[in-house]
Amino acid sequence: MSDDLSSGNTPRHVAIIMDGNGRWARQRNLPRVDGHRKGVENVLRIVDAANKLGIEYLTLYAFSVENWQRPAAEVDALMHLLESFLGQYAAELVEKHIRLRVIGNLAALPEHARAPLEKAVATTADFPGPTLVLAINYGARTEVLDAVRAYAREVQAGRASPDTLGWESFSRYLYTRDMPDPDLIIRTSGETRLSNFLLLQSAYAEMYFSPVLWPDFDGACLADAVRAFANRERRFGKTGEQLREK
Ligand code: IPE
Ligand code: IPE
Ligand code: MG
Repeated sequence: MSDDLSSGNTPRHVAIIMDGNGRWARQRNLPRVDGHRKGVENVLRIVDAANKLGIEYLTLYAFSVENWQRPAAEVDALMHLLESFLGQYAAELVEKHIRLRVIGNLAALPEHARAPLEKAVATTADFPGPTLVLAINYGARTEVLDAVRAYAREVQAGRASPDTLGWESFSRYLYTRDMPDPDLIIRTSGETRLSNFLLLQSAYAEMYFSPVLWPDFDGACLADAVRAFANRERRFGKTGEQLREK
């Protein structure tokens, strides 16, 4: 049920680049991992807020393919946080009938993180939604390469023809195959870049950059972003006049 602030113009799919955990910790003279722990605690708070706003798909960028380059101890801590997040919240996701999905290459994750993740995805797969999508070991360029490889194999096998390839058919090879494109992309912590996130799916997404660090980004911050979205005019290449004519 959407609340009145977003009525009529609720983004169906909101994707968030959860950034600023490290700076949150540094500001408090804490180790970076404490910032990540705080960031994980914030996830359920935002999932609840998104539900209240009537958002159908919430995608959270949790770990990029480039994040493997961080110090091994930080990567290890992030993988253990993912495991404990699922240990703590998988039952709550089921209770709330939230469907969990993952985009990214799970095969590269350590078993202790991958197994509970796959289990939670399987347990919630038949819920009609709302859907929480975790982008883990995700990179848009890797996603495109995976899609091209899968498509090329179909062509080689004679099951697809380049002559009939359109965006509709190509997008079925992406990790996001049966999801709508994001309407709104939020990045916290003041950075204004996409960092290899949903580059193709964001073709017509509205962008919203918040200075707030992820652990402090609460339901009111999300409502602000949704309100800003509701006031944007999405033209999809047309003129403003054309939109107002119909
Ligand atoms: C985002 O916070 C979480 C991940 C990328 C896993 P950061 O760890 O990037 O925080 P900053 O950017 O260093 O503040
Ligand atoms: C993007 O944040 C990835 C996630 C939020 C998971 P980063 O902090 O890794 O991005 P850069 O390196 O500052 O661009
Ligand atoms: Mg960062």
